Amino acid sequence: MIRVFSGIQPSGELHIGNYLGAVKHWVGLQDEYECFFCIVDYHAITQDYDVDALESHTFDMAVSLLAAGLDPGKCVLFVQSHVLEHTELAWVFTTVTPLGELERMTQFKEKAQRQESVLAGLLNYPVLQAADVLLYKANRVPVGEDQVQHVELIREIARKWNTRYGQDFFPEPHAQVGRARRILGLDGQSKMSKSLGNTIGILEELDGIWELLRPAVTDPARVTRKDPGTPEMCNLYALHQQFSPAYTVEEVANKCRTAGWGCLDCKRVLADNMAVALAPIRERAAELRARPERVQEVLESGAERARSVARETMREVRERMGLLSAPQATPSET
Ligand code: TRP
Repeated sequence: MIRVFSGIQPSGELHIGNYLGAVKHWVGLQDEYECFFCIVDYHAITQDYDVDALESHTFDMAVSLLAAGLDPGKCVLFVQSHVLEHTELAWVFTTVTPLGELERMTQFKEKAQRQESVLAGLLNYPVLQAADVLLYKANRVPVGEDQVQHVELIREIARKWNTRYGQDFFPEPHAQVGRARRILGLDGQSKMSKSLGNTIGILEELDGIWELLRPAVTDPARVTRKDPGTPEMCNLYALHQQFSPAYTVEEVANKCRTAGWGCLDCKRVLADNMAVALAPIRERAAELRARPERVQEVLESGAERARSVARETMREVRERMGLLSAPQATPSET
């Protein structure tokens, strides 16, 4: 049985970059594989974060994921901090992870550069990620391009642990990177990211979408209304490809190349189509929000299912590592 694991930070409402780049793909995977999807709150605290907002951001992320199509009948959806074994296995893995490997991670270097004092949690971020994946002995990890290096490190951690404590115990997982053209932020430059303020939330309505699209950066060669453009150079054309029907995509390309439409005309059509495409997600989110206890239930039963796998893995890990077994080594239960 192929097992899939992926994680997402609790940033609140999903934005269309998360949705198109990751979550839409996850929705498809749950029909084919045994899937674990995790809201990684212990990763979120490795950088400055708003303590008062974390709880609601975690809840909102769960709402977004369910609204976007994750189905608790087909996958296990849970919150990382609800399953204590994640941090336990992360500690174990720090003892087989070379410091040099952690220091060489691109994401660490980038984030560390922006910090006055670099905390150990930021350095150990990929070790916790290794624990996430390997606790469930997952074989596949659907991630964005920027996480491939971390998955490589997870493979190395699995190898190192296996060499020391038990051949073939942990499988070496593979990163699965989607082929979809990368959607940039509305600035047309950086990755779409909430911290950069260049996103569109998946729960936005038409007016909100329009407000965000109107100033968005298009093909830089179209300086005036009369300049012909190149659709392939335009981030909004990539969005048309995701949200508009095929005949519209074709029309947009023609009108752009011939300067038949200005960018605003093109954006208006895009806003309408996005609002229509996202409507069912918005409706499901409203239903879920009206029944918060239902969302809590989903997360509770997700954590319970995750725990039963995690406990078994940790029992074997402790045994293989020579840790004396405790009479009742499951404090998470009481
Ligand atoms: N680091 C991932 C990201 O920022 C999130 C994540 C945490 C993750 N644990 C994971 C992804 C395990 C895949 C598998 O996108």
